[in-house]
Amino acid sequence: MEIKYNISLKPYNTFGIDAEAKAFVSIAAEDSLTEAVSLIPEKEPLLVLGGGSNVLFTRHFNGWVLKNEIPGIEVKKENENNIWVEAGAGVNWHQFVLYCIEKGWAGLENLSLIPGCVGASPMQNIGAYGVEIKDVFEYLEAYSLHEKTFVTFSATDCKFGYRESVFKKELKNRFVITRVCFRLSKKPFFHTTYGSIQQELETMGVTELTIKAISDAVIRIRQGKLPDPAVTGNAGSFFKNPEIDTNHYLELKYRYPELPGYPASMGRTKVPAGWLIEKAGWKGYREGDAGVHDRQALVLVNYGQANGEQIYAISEKIMNSVLEKFGVELEREVNIY
Ligand code: EPU
Repeated sequence: MEIKYNISLKPYNTFGIDAEAKAFVSIAAEDSLTEAVSLIPEKEPLLVLGGGSNVLFTRHFNGWVLKNEIPGIEVKKENENNIWVEAGAGVNWHQFVLYCIEKGWAGLENLSLIPGCVGASPMQNIGAYGVEIKDVFEYLEAYSLHEKTFVTFSATDCKFGYRESVFKKELKNRFVITRVCFRLSKKPFFHTTYGSIQQELETMGVTELTIKAISDAVIRIRQGKLPDPAVTGNAGSFFKNPEIDTNHYLELKYRYPELPGYPASMGRTKVPAGWLIEKAGWKGYREGDAGVHDRQALVLVNYGQANGEQIYAISEKIMNSVLEKFGVELEREVNIY
């Protein structure tokens, strides 16, 4: 196991921020994880990175970074209708989705092209185009940094919510996810009603619906409006879509009849943060190399040399402006370090 000291995290975060880690270790298996953890001095900050697609470094990381690279895809069991597939936390998410589609296992196709790794997917219950991880999640295995043992979590244990799980809340920084098992379907159930999927399938001239066609449609939609992190640094949606009181929504709707809204929990309505940010005038805004994407206002971007503080500063300005204009408080989805 190699420990690197004072290394740049720039290749390891999709924002492309040039922050340094005091110590850095690549983890390729459970035993190297337990060994690395045993070497970390007590009280030393620890960060587990997967694809680095949901973090913003606003300063150097004065602790240990463990880069989760645990590989492997394994069928655990199957019956007539379902197949249970377990993947290592370090498996690239999109490669995993494509692998399942190739095999004819349905359930993940709407989640195509989401950056990051398998291990991070349950952390924030990734979701897109009407599907969330929780819909196909069976269990995960994780290493307890306190108890120094491996623990299995069911879906209930994970307490999934909208871009939320127990690992972002009460168990934050207490477990390292090592493997995740998904319950996929041999007989697909197609989710095509959300967003512009149906329209995209028509544009593509698809006559026979397949999971591959849905994946292709999702890829085309995402490529159309989301910047490619390999070209322009970003971490996908920077903020969550806020849920507001439905009465508040109706007041706003009266002022802005075109404001979209989706029913959420009792008496609450979810509104697209991208719409609010665009309407507040931020879409395409740029300050040096930090900015707001010009096709999706929910995505903050690094055009090259921006540092994390500059991107964070723009996020503050956006939050203040949306609060002032609409009375809506935005919450960051990206983890700030
Ligand atoms: N909108 C605007 N202006 C913008 C952006 C969006 O008016 O600049 C409006 C759109 O016209 C649409 C609505 O906002 O009416 C929703 O936009 P979109 O379908 O692009 O989705 P989103 O709500 O902005 C969410 C997820 C994405 C996911 C898409 C598709 C969150 C925080 N984001 O974005 O997830 O891909 O839906 O399901 O829930 C991510 O989490 O990183 C992510 C990319």
